[in-house]
Amino acid sequence: MPSNPYTPGQVPRILAGRAVEMRRIEGLLARVATYGELGGPLMVFHAPRGIGKTSLLRAAQRGAVEAGFVTAWVACSRQQPVLSAIAHSVGRALERADAVPAGTRWRGQLERLTVEVGLPGAKVQAEVSRKEAATAPPHAAIGMLESLLHDAAASVRGHGGAGLFLLLDELHTASADEMSVLLNTLQNLDGERTENPLATVAAGLPVTPEALTRAATFGERSTFVSLDVLSDDDARAALVAPAEAEGVTWTDGALAAVVTESRGYPYLLQLLGSTTWDAADPDTGTRLTLAHVKRGLPVARDQLAAMHRARWGAASRLEQRFLAAMAAAGDGNVTRAAIAAGMGVDSRAISVPRERLIEKGVIEPVGHGLVRFTLPGFGQFVRGLEDA
Ligand SMILES: Nc1ncnc2c1ncn2[C@@H]1O[C@H](COP(=O)(O)OP(=O)(O)O)[C@@H](O)[C@H]1O
Ligand SMILES: [Mg+2]
Repeated sequence: MPSNPYTPGQVPRILAGRAVEMRRIEGLLARVATYGELGGPLMVFHAPRGIGKTSLLRAAQRGAVEAGFVTAWVACSRQQPVLSAIAHSVGRALERADAVPAGTRWRGQLERLTVEVGLPGAKVQAEVSRKEAATAPPHAAIGMLESLLHDAAASVRGHGGAGLFLLLDELHTASADEMSVLLNTLQNLDGERTENPLATVAAGLPVTPEALTRAATFGERSTFVSLDVLSDDDARAALVAPAEAEGVTWTDGALAAVVTESRGYPYLLQLLGSTTWDAADPDTGTRLTLAHVKRGLPVARDQLAAMHRARWGAASRLEQRFLAAMAAAGDGNVTRAAIAAGMGVDSRAISVPRERLIEKGVIEPVGHGLVRFTLPGFGQFVRGLEDA
């Protein structure tokens, strides 16, 4: 009996679509591999949760490894200073690749950077180091990160590798100081581009471009690429390809139903693929039908409802009032004025909950001050709450 190939909440077995985005990353890597030089400015993919940022970066990482890169993956988080996480990840990547720079200087560098920007793991220390970073000029950290990345990249190349590929997921969690150090470092490395065979790609929530631009004026020179939901063709591929690998097919009716229900949202495609599969419990050679989709739907809806509840529960009272006013205004794009009116306050008074909810990825800006919910069905869920 083949096993369920769908991956709600995990990196997909097969990345559907995203050819354009993969080509852009490959362009950076090709420059590093071919000329041994810096692969251009920081490339930042931004989108709400569940759209596929981590999946894209993981696929790019796999491709880079095949192309001879040493890759360092950093999952940025507020619990840990980002710069020391970078130092650790780069250090580990070089050790695994047996490409640690010669001499004792390297170890010292790693340790100094780790100490300078806070010891990882310990929350209290992280907070202390964040406060210090706000007052101390970050020049020392820039210098250290710069020589760390330079030495690491040059060493990979010196050991016959294509270069160093640094991937920074969840970059929106970095503090302004950390972003500033990172951007200044990459800027400096660009000044001697031919000496630095390195490419850096990041992903974060939709606030990331703005946060980077605020952190350093030249942050805006980064390459910002927004990720959208999958097209209908790519959505079908996301369903068909994993099943096909297990010898299972979809009827056209079943495919159409899931594509419509998910609206191209990758997490929902995986969730509905998974619940349909479990409802069918298929043998090799069988087909997933509309009846299976329908039988799986309640399970998928339960899962979504749990996510809605978790997001609602994590919102402050003020944020909940914001969400209720927004939900009352409808499921599409909602104006600032409509939300303020629903809350009975001036539209300037809603900035704080609005920013916080965007940061949390519950809502996203869609231009001209409009916002919308990121998770399908969330508005309906809020309208159904009695205490909202
Ligand atoms: N291109 C894709 N093809 C198939 N599934 C995808 C794709 N992108 C994302 N997914 C699925 O969508 C869900 C969310 O992906 P993830 O990369 O974690 O999103 P994000 O990092 O933006 O929150 C996961 O279940 C993943 O398997
Ligand atoms: Mg992610």
